[in-house]
Amino acid sequence: MVLILTRSDVMSVLDMKDCMDAVEKAFTELAEGSAVLPLRNAIRPPDGLALYMPAYLRKMEALACKVVTVYKDNPTKHNLPTTIGKVLLQDPLTGEVICIMDGGYLTAVRTGAASGVGTKYLARQDRGQTVGIFGAGVQARMQLWAVTEARNIGKALVYDISEEAARLFAREMSEKLQVEIGVAKDPTELLAMDILCTATSASNPLFNGADVREGAHINGIGSHSPGQRELDTAIVKRSLFVGDSREACFGEAGDLLIPIQEGAITEAHFYAELGEIITGKKRGARMTR
Ligand SMILES: NC(=O)c1ccc[n+]([C@@H]2O[C@H](COP(=O)([O-])OP(=O)(O)OC[C@H]3O[C@@H](n4cnc5c(N)ncnc54)[C@H](O)[C@@H]3O)[C@@H](O)[C@H]2O)c1
Repeated sequence: MVLILTRSDVMSVLDMKDCMDAVEKAFTELAEGSAVLPLRNAIRPPDGLALYMPAYLRKMEALACKVVTVYKDNPTKHNLPTTIGKVLLQDPLTGEVICIMDGGYLTAVRTGAASGVGTKYLARQDRGQTVGIFGAGVQARMQLWAVTEARNIGKALVYDISEEAARLFAREMSEKLQVEIGVAKDPTELLAMDILCTATSASNPLFNGADVREGAHINGIGSHSPGQRELDTAIVKRSLFVGDSREACFGEAGDLLIPIQEGAITEAHFYAELGEIITGKKRGARMTR
C-alpha cells in the first residue's frame, strides 16, 4: 500500500523545528560522504520541463526522488498550476515506494530550514535579535519562520516592491510567530538589522553591499540561475561565503558566479559547504570583514 499525502496532510504534520533537525542531519551526511545526491536530471516534453532529483541518505535510511514539472500553459489550458512537485519515498531495503507526498509545501519549508540551520551555526550569538526580510512571498515566510527557530528574534522588518504584499506578510506572520514585524518603505531600512534574508524573484542586487553592517548574517536564497543575483559584488567580496552545496552554487548561483566573472573574487572565495561547518571540518566565523 502506498501512502498518499496531500498538501494539507503535509502541512498538518511538517513543523519547521523538525524540518531543521532533518536538514541538519542531511547536511551532515553530505559532508561526511554518506549521502548520494546525483545531479538533477531534466526531460523536456513538448509543453514543459520535468526535473528529477533523487537522493539517498545512508544513516537516515532515507531514499527518495522529488519530481518537479514546470508547464507554463497549465493554468490557461488545463486549470492546473505551472509548477507541480511530488516526492516519492522508498524503502531503502526493498526499493518499494512507500509514500507519495505533495512536494510544494515541503520544498518551501525545506528551503527555510536550510537558512535556519545556516543562521544557527553562522549568525553571531551576541546579536541575532533583529531580522530584515527582502520579499514577502512564499519563501520569505519560511525564511522568517526558520530564523525565529534559530534565534530569539525580537523585531523583523519586511520590504517588498509590492507594499500590499509586505503588509499582508506582516499581518499574517506577526500573528503566526508572535514577532513584531514592520513594513519598510525603502530597502535600505533593512540594513540596520542583524540578520538579512533575501527571498525575492528579483534578477538584480537588492541593496548596496558596502552599506551592510559588519558582522551581519545573510541568507540569500532567491536567485537560482547563473545570470541573476540578489547580492552585489561588494557584499559577496566582503563575506565569508558558505553555500549549501559547492556543486549547486558553482552550477547556478549568480550571487557567486557574477563576481567571479567580473574578476572581483576567485573560486577560492567559496569558503565552505554548510555541512562542513556543522561537522566542524571548517570553522564558522564572522560573516563580513
Ligand atoms: N534556494 C532555493 O532552494 C529556492 C527554493 C525555492 C524558491 N527559490 C526562489 O526564491 C524566490 C522567491 O520564491 P517565492 O516562491 O517566495 O516567490 P513569490 O513570487 O511568492 O515571492 C517573490 C516576492 O519577491 C518580490 N520582489 C521581486 N523583486 C523584488 C525586489 N527587487 N525587492 C523586493 N521584493 C521583490 C515580489 O514582489 C514577490 O512578492 C524565487 O526566485 C524562487 O525561484 C529558491
